Amino acid sequence: MSFYSDVVIPFFYDMAMDKPHIEEGRKNILKNVSGEVLEIGFGTGLNLPHYPPAVSKLTIIDKNPGMNKRAHGRISASKIKVDNMVLNGEELPFEDESFDSVVSTFTLCSIQNIDKALKEICRVLKPDGKFFFQEHGLANDLKIRKWQNRINPFQKIWADGCNLNRDIKLLIENAGFDITEIKNYFLEKGPKTHTFMYEGIACK
Ligand SMILES: C[S@@+](CC[C@H](N)C(=O)[O-])C[C@H]1O[C@@H](n2cnc3c(N)ncnc32)[C@H](O)[C@@H]1O
Repeated sequence: MSFYSDVVIPFFYDMAMDKPHIEEGRKNILKNVSGEVLEIGFGTGLNLPHYPPAVSKLTIIDKNPGMNKRAHGRISASKIKVDNMVLNGEELPFEDESFDSVVSTFTLCSIQNIDKALKEICRVLKPDGKFFFQEHGLANDLKIRKWQNRINPFQKIWADGCNLNRDIKLLIENAGFDITEIKNYFLEKGPKTHTFMYEGIACK
């Protein structure tokens, strides 16, 4: 890990994403999560205060130790039992069908081999489990898409591998999921290229 990924990115990420207009979506997607839960790309732990009491155990993974370091304060303050691991979501060290819920927020944009990671999520979910997602991605407007494609190479460099132009719905479906609920919208604040959201639930 470089100083930029390990220290600079987690510091700025926490500042930029700890905002009320983003928190609303987090609350909305997390309110129905239950049982044994896996969150991939936990980052600095901004979802943690929004998990409901129906969560019996939370396993969190992130590949960036710097992000994980910034999450420690939130983990200690939480009443939920948290199993914290620094590892790559493309290869999950869990048995097949071991989680009731898997959560991903603002993470599918930056996992390098996204198809592999989504297949892993599908594998570790119980047959009646649910995948909860709240992600930014490819917009539904052609002009915005054009700009997303133009600036994506620069975004990937300064934002630690984050892509602006991933079709999140298509990627989830291609991994074998059935999307049962989906909502698309723009976040209230921020450039349109960065704020087109896919929020929903998928089943196996
Ligand atoms: C933009 S942050 C989102 C953090 C958090 N989910 C949130 O909503 O605030 C993306 C996170 O995904 C993590 N990440 C990226 N690729 C990953 C991978 N292959 N495996 C696990 N975590 C990954 C990054 O380290 C980063 O912490």
